[in-house]
Amino acid sequence: MRPVVVSTIAATRQHVTHARHRGLSIGLVPTMGALHAGHARLIRDARAETDYVVVSIFVNPTQFGPHEDLDRYPRTPERDVQLCAQEGVDLIFHPEVAEMYPPGFQTYVEVTELQRGLCGASRPGHFRGVATVVTKLLNIVQPDVAYFGQKDAQQARLVQQLVADLNIPVRIRVCPIVREADGLALSSRNQYLSPTQRRQAVVLSRALQAAATHVEAGERDAAALRRILAEHLRQAPDLRLDYAEVVDADTLQPVTTLRGRTLIALAAWLGTTRLIDNVIVEAEPGPRPAA
Ligand code: PAF
Repeated sequence: MRPVVVSTIAATRQHVTHARHRGLSIGLVPTMGALHAGHARLIRDARAETDYVVVSIFVNPTQFGPHEDLDRYPRTPERDVQLCAQEGVDLIFHPEVAEMYPPGFQTYVEVTELQRGLCGASRPGHFRGVATVVTKLLNIVQPDVAYFGQKDAQQARLVQQLVADLNIPVRIRVCPIVREADGLALSSRNQYLSPTQRRQAVVLSRALQAAATHVEAGERDAAALRRILAEHLRQAPDLRLDYAEVVDADTLQPVTTLRGRTLIALAAWLGTTRLIDNVIVEAEPGPRPAA
């Protein structure tokens, strides 16, 4: 069945309130459209765990820097509606910019520590835009559960923090990365890649896989893991590294020695396309030194 498509906050609220009155639980999948199998995975989880699934499609201008790809970000509304129909979405909220940011808008949300490092360092203001729009979407839809992808690891962590800090009554589910057959993490931005760049893009996931294998084999030294990442990334001649970091999965602070849940994260440019990928590893504490 084709989902209902609405563009106003008032209509979204009406539909969601009606669903609530019918006793249905609400799932929200926030997206910027150009939907792919990674989004389909989020929607499927929402479908399995909640009764009424809302997908928001909004290319949020406040999370793009002045020289970023806001204007060329892929917009595929018809295909998006089709994918949502196939996945059994109930409601699509597809607002115009003026609906979300009317004249006079001036309130922003910042997650001050978690927004600093990793992608925050090279995309100043990005996470302020993400935190603001996610807070607005959560207030508009008031879902029981909201779904985010692990590919945007820093975003997912930041959203968990903001709902805790601002007492927003929603459960945040972070769903696994969906990959192409060769390992490339799905992203709406992959379609910018030329065939040569696409072939080289596979080094990101290969580098992470190699690092994860070394952790499984007992490597606990973050500098050694960064060297392994760099070695793999060098195999792509056109790739420009933004960062290769080994951080605590909770605080996102860099570590020197791995302990517990650790995020290994990469960002790199291929031409004008910025790609990110990551893996979470569990580093069991090593044997205690003899007393
Ligand atoms: O991950 C995205 O697509 C966006 O950052 C989000 C969460 C929809 C906010 O605009």
